[in-house]
Amino acid sequence: MNISAEDKKWIKEALDQFGTKMETVASRNQGKIPYTTDDKGRFDDRSGEKDICWWTNGFWGGELWQLYKLTGKEIFRQEAIGTEDKMDAAFMNYNGMDHDAGFRWLPTSVVRYKMDHNPKSRNRGLLAAASLSGRFNLNGNFIRAWNDWGDDRDTTGWAIIDCMMNLPLLYWASEELGDPRFKAIAVAHADTAMKNFIREDGSVRHIVGFDPATGEFDRDYGGQGYGEGSSWTRGQSWALYGFALSYIYTGEKKYLDTARKVADYVISELDSKFPEYLVPVDYRQPAEPYYEDSTAAAITAGGLIELAKCLDSAGYSAEANEKVCSDKYLNAAIKLLKTLHEKRCDYTLDKDNILEKCTAAYHDEKHEFAIIYGDYYYLEALMKLDGSALTVF
Ligand code: GLY
Repeated sequence: MNISAEDKKWIKEALDQFGTKMETVASRNQGKIPYTTDDKGRFDDRSGEKDICWWTNGFWGGELWQLYKLTGKEIFRQEAIGTEDKMDAAFMNYNGMDHDAGFRWLPTSVVRYKMDHNPKSRNRGLLAAASLSGRFNLNGNFIRAWNDWGDDRDTTGWAIIDCMMNLPLLYWASEELGDPRFKAIAVAHADTAMKNFIREDGSVRHIVGFDPATGEFDRDYGGQGYGEGSSWTRGQSWALYGFALSYIYTGEKKYLDTARKVADYVISELDSKFPEYLVPVDYRQPAEPYYEDSTAAAITAGGLIELAKCLDSAGYSAEANEKVCSDKYLNAAIKLLKTLHEKRCDYTLDKDNILEKCTAAYHDEKHEFAIIYGDYYYLEALMKLDGSALTVF
């Protein structure tokens, strides 16, 4: 990758600051599985019975494994293993299992299994993959998203763009078992998502509802973005990163082209409307109130780096301008990360989080707080640039 000496310098500084701070943070939060922070800036804990199925519970373990890779400090490894053990309780709750099995067990069990080959982690990864593939709706060729929420919404036919990031769990299971079933489901879902979620201009829907019996497209929903027809920034980032991953695992150029289409849309929105690269919650949100989402910035950066690497890789038959293209995506990723580093990171020891101004959903009451997956993807993206990241997704 074509990274300037000046950029390499701040990336190294950022990683040093991240690693140093998190040694203190991991020590004072032993045994927890955090999602966000309290009003004093200290981690909450989602490891209890009520919250053990929370969809973000894999990201702290994933952050710990990346930190262990970065620093070699034993505290990170020990805490990561503890996190993984606690998550076993989730397997015993059918309603607590959903499309996010990849977000939960790729950064914990699967990444650990790739390092130490322990059979318990392998078993967990395979159970998670079996659960995820059990959500496949053969009528519509999609993986069902959430279970019913106990209100008047019928989510039986709902699929969401986020699920593209869970497909690597299925690609891994097929490879691990030498059994094509899991990969076949991942590919079928990716094809459905490509056809039904990606708009002509490269923007992406969050939720699509299909008729669960016939598989026909019913309608789309605004989901966690501003509304119907809008462009939730984290959804764009899941699509961009997720399609790049499906290209990596299948070699199918149509997925690379889709990732590129979304990336071109995202970069054009940033350049024309948000030139500072402080990412909003929705590219089509009103000017006021201005809500920001640093998680979307970090995930977009990770996806852009993967895309740039794919375009550079020997396996892709290059067009004449391929190098220029990969630089465009890499430079946008670096700009996003540098902006986060300079303006949206807290490297002090007072608070447990790194990234500031993360938002879960546009219409939530609370905006702009600490969210664990923001820190995870920021660290992962910096380590990708540094060449040291563990491959998790
Ligand atoms: N996957 C849910 C979210 O991005 O909030």
